[in-house]
Amino acid sequence: MCGIIGHTGQQATQQFLIEGLKRLEYRGYDSAGVAIQNGSIHLYKKKGNIAALEGYLPEKISGNCGIAHTRWATHGKPNNENAHPHMSYSKRLVMVHNGIIENYQMIKEDLMAKGITFSSDTDSEVLLNLIDWEFSLTHDLIKAIKNALTQVEGSYAIAIIKSDEPNTIYACRNGSPLILGEKDGEYFIASDALAINAFANQIYYPEDKDLAIVHASKGISFMDENGVPKKIESEELVQTNDHAQKKDFEDFMLKEIFEQPDSLRRSFIQPSASSDIDHLVEKVKACNRIIVLGCGTSWHAGLIGKYLIEKLARIPVEVEYASEFRYRHPVIQSSDLVLSISQSGETADTLAANRLARENNAMTLGICNVKRSTLTRETDYQLYLNAGAEIGVASTKAFTSQVSILTQLALFIAKERKEELSKNTMQALEALPAKIETVLKQSEAIKQLALKYALANHFLFIGRGVNYPVALEGALKLKEISYIHAEGYPGAEMKHGPIALIDYSFPTFAIVTDDENRSKMISNIKEIQARNGKVIALIQEGDNETAQVADEVISIPNTMDELIPILSTVPLQLFSYHAAKIRGCNVDQPRNLAKSVTVE
Ligand code: AGP
Ligand code: GLU
Repeated sequence: MCGIIGHTGQQATQQFLIEGLKRLEYRGYDSAGVAIQNGSIHLYKKKGNIAALEGYLPEKISGNCGIAHTRWATHGKPNNENAHPHMSYSKRLVMVHNGIIENYQMIKEDLMAKGITFSSDTDSEVLLNLIDWEFSLTHDLIKAIKNALTQVEGSYAIAIIKSDEPNTIYACRNGSPLILGEKDGEYFIASDALAINAFANQIYYPEDKDLAIVHASKGISFMDENGVPKKIESEELVQTNDHAQKKDFEDFMLKEIFEQPDSLRRSFIQPSASSDIDHLVEKVKACNRIIVLGCGTSWHAGLIGKYLIEKLARIPVEVEYASEFRYRHPVIQSSDLVLSISQSGETADTLAANRLARENNAMTLGICNVKRSTLTRETDYQLYLNAGAEIGVASTKAFTSQVSILTQLALFIAKERKEELSKNTMQALEALPAKIETVLKQSEAIKQLALKYALANHFLFIGRGVNYPVALEGALKLKEISYIHAEGYPGAEMKHGPIALIDYSFPTFAIVTDDENRSKMISNIKEIQARNGKVIALIQEGDNETAQVADEVISIPNTMDELIPILSTVPLQLFSYHAAKIRGCNVDQPRNLAKSVTVE
């Protein structure tokens, strides 16, 4: 996945690179490195996160041109050798790469047959050495880059500096994100706007295969894939210095869980946006079907959206993993609305699936947290979460806001037919932030429960109806940050297999709310207990019957059935958080993961 940052200009480069890397760390933290050109190239790279790199770097590396990278390994272990930037075999080029070169093996064998040696296991070094080989033939770096890129398959965003060419960075993209920015004679390249929005006030969005040349005094110029100079208009970049701080919290994840009353409030669509929403709703009503796409937690939000939109708005909804959708030759019609959900707006599979929808003339809507992310620029309509930066790898406040936006969308569509219900649900939604506060007050009690159960190696999460996706989300949260194996299942499916796993060491979280499924969930609890399994029941206040049956109980305030997922998710987030802390895990940067999955 990786984050890329580059700078050249009048000021020293090092500070920009390090600050940019910190802002990009959500993309990966297996290893990091910087390369600074000051007559020759000074290269430093280190296994581990940015803090590890900072500890390893000299305090001051002079030079006003450089590139840097934070890696999420795809090809080759996360070690010092595989860390970027890579230096080419002749030592004249240094490159950072985000993406995957799919035909790297064939190219590598070919280059090795020519006597070229490699010092890493990465696909990225293969691309770099191919460029260097082409340079040895053409003695022209631009031609060499173009020639090499026509031979590779896959995705890339790359930035290159040259040992004998000061003040200059070459950059190109295809399928992976890359932006450029500038302010007062300082020039930047980066994976996203977030990396540079404290330093730049103008931003450029190059297209696939455009080549950018960034020069400390000449500025930024572009050419297309045929080498023809190209003008790209810059857009204003609103400068912020809002890189999220942990404040008084131990971890970003905990802070983000506790921010949910506020982030939820910010997800409420304001009356000032009503004409835009009315326009969108009319368009949605004209669609025959909604296809919801997402990955991970965003996909879970989509599943809840299906329950709500079908129940309230009566439009057929299909929910698909973006990664499956894009490769299974789906039937997409121009009468479809394709609704892509992504916190980051940079998830490679979601972007590719959305592009497929566009190619097939479907209307596209993005539900996204990050403004100016790729998804927001590649959809016809956008609805924003306004949740504020989410830094913890485990998505928390973005999920509850995604569900809130989907609920509002369903209500807006249903408004004419179900005026009373829409009004009541909207009022109940507005009352939820206060109810989340009540749930958050139980954090200490949930920690005590976690102390009792955090040593289990396995967990089952079950729920029915709209609580089934909540069970999936609870299981995902627990596994990604505490490394406890967890499965989410619809309650009714338990007897079709998973119940075979149950014994005294395999606890279950049962999400039981006061709806048509309650008595069936109580039967599920009994069935688990009959096999010596312990059950933690998540119930609604006043549900004494379930409370008497379950081994442990967490209760949430009452609300309308449609809104339960927003409340019932919060205790599950807290349980995962405490379980992970008890097990000594790094909750903000869990092993093997990255916040934003920008490779497929
Ligand atoms: C959530 O906790 C995960 N880390 C992950 O599943 C995430 O939801 C998924 O990668 C999708 O990300 P996106 O919303 O930024 O597209
Ligand atoms: N494929 C490159 C590597 O493994 C870049 C990885 C990425 O962009 O995620 O180093």
